[in-house]
Amino acid sequence: MATNITFHPGAVSTEERAELLGQKGATIWLTGLSASGKSTIATALEQHLLHLKLHAFRLDGDNVRFGLNKDLGFSPKDREENIRRIGEVSLLFSQSSTLTVTAFISPYKSDRDLARALHAAASPPTPFIEVFVDAPLSVVESRDPKGLYKKARAGEIKEFTGISSPYEEPDAPEIVIKTDELSVEGAVEKIFGYLVEKGLVTI
Ligand code: ADX
Repeated sequence: MATNITFHPGAVSTEERAELLGQKGATIWLTGLSASGKSTIATALEQHLLHLKLHAFRLDGDNVRFGLNKDLGFSPKDREENIRRIGEVSLLFSQSSTLTVTAFISPYKSDRDLARALHAAASPPTPFIEVFVDAPLSVVESRDPKGLYKKARAGEIKEFTGISSPYEEPDAPEIVIKTDELSVEGAVEKIFGYLVEKGLVTI
């Protein structure tokens, strides 16, 4: 624990930054089972936003675990720390006026709620849009692009989400995407439509 530390505010407020850059930041938080489509949607959404000349950046569970979070595994405690860090990092990105798209299983309600609360407590409060990437276990298990469900069923991977570790569905997500019913383009359209409707992006 660090002590004797002082917070140094910048000379440019978050509001002035948004004004100067012509763009506000927001966190678009995708949650769902492995292979539900989070990374695919996040990638397509990031591309869509960038092609409209909007600053966007994607934080992906698998990728972040190669670097920043390479010290973490998949125990409940490590997942909690994974999501705590990403809650903080996504807030920093969003405060830099970036549309930040996160793609983490984030299986625990309390961890996602903490990330939401962190954004709400920021000055000014930073938009946090929870997107439930909803696909039934039977569907993600039949997709199994990385063969992980097969390994989990065989007991070769412990604490695998949906098999031997829980996934707590969101109660009140801002957006629900049923990836067994909606195409990737449809998902991007739905999320982008929400951002426009709420005045979070202006095009
Ligand atoms: S989270 O639960 O802490 O949010 P995160 O999104 O960072 O998970 O990482 C999930 C990815 O790690 C999965 O898409 C999968 O490729 C891989 N993975 C490896 N082991 C596990 C496991 N035990 N449970 C879930 N995903 C795992």
